[in-house]
Amino acid sequence: MQKNFINLRDFTAGQLGKLLDRAIAEKTLFAQGKLPATLQRRTLAMIFEKPSLRTRVSFEAAMTHLGGHAIYLTREDIGLGSREAVQDIARVLGRLCDGIMARTFSHRFVEDLGRYTTVPVVNALTDYSHPCQAMADLMTVREHFGELAGRKLVFVGDGNNVARSLAEAGRMLGVHVVLACPKGYELEDEFVASLESIEGAGSFATCNDPAGAVADADVIYTDTWVSMGQEAEKEKRVRDFAAFQVNPALLAQAPARAIVLHCLPAYRGFEIDDDAFEAHAQTILAEAENRLHFQRALLNALIGDGGI
Ligand code: CP
Ligand code: NVA
Repeated sequence: MQKNFINLRDFTAGQLGKLLDRAIAEKTLFAQGKLPATLQRRTLAMIFEKPSLRTRVSFEAAMTHLGGHAIYLTREDIGLGSREAVQDIARVLGRLCDGIMARTFSHRFVEDLGRYTTVPVVNALTDYSHPCQAMADLMTVREHFGELAGRKLVFVGDGNNVARSLAEAGRMLGVHVVLACPKGYELEDEFVASLESIEGAGSFATCNDPAGAVADADVIYTDTWVSMGQEAEKEKRVRDFAAFQVNPALLAQAPARAIVLHCLPAYRGFEIDDDAFEAHAQTILAEAENRLHFQRALLNALIGDGGI
């Protein structure tokens, strides 16, 4: 049984599939007012080194729905890495709380939290990955198309944390993920090679031609060209990614069935234009809402059941 939700590849495809089943079932129960408050008197500590709208609000709302409470802690509040060592923060929070979620620059930091504490630790985005996002995304795709197996998701943009998690989740859950990016922005060769060793029916490929890639896409996905922490590279990135905008001209190359997803926040006029965003706002907002439903099920499993 896994105590933490930090790396998707710590789980089997079956476990991730069941987690999605649970998220979808509990979403229905919640809508009917029948989801039990299973985490009464439980507390989630939420550590944020970077800004957040969706992640903070969805985790906090999920704890509220389950009868528990969440505490928002910034880097400044706890002196992350300066006032106190990670192993001490981890062990103390393990005595005071029932779970920890963390959004950090360093992936190693979240792994260390998980190693040193006794309570579940959830990765709420690091420079390396964003597993909760990828699971909520595939939940949205599954709800839209009825199943995931065989669907093609084209990620138009940077080989970043979100792309990495989608590549892993897609591999495990039977989705064909294609990263369409400018040269120099691919995912690392070592990472791509390692996907082969993960059990799953999905696949991963990279190309530099967004129009060609979307021609048979079910899902067109994009994310910012400048992730949190890369602000100094903004000018160069905006130049390098100019031909990789999701806009009506690109969408005209895609089949009518294709949906558009964006993890948000969206930088309109850069990775996506207003028209493309507004034409697909329904699915993009359903995706944002599913962060709540996926993570509520995740907290139920990790804190309520004691692991996955
Ligand atoms: N998609 C996402 O993680 O959004 P926030 O950065 O606002 O949490
Ligand atoms: N790749 C983006 C995702 C934001 C949710 C970032 O890391 O800033």
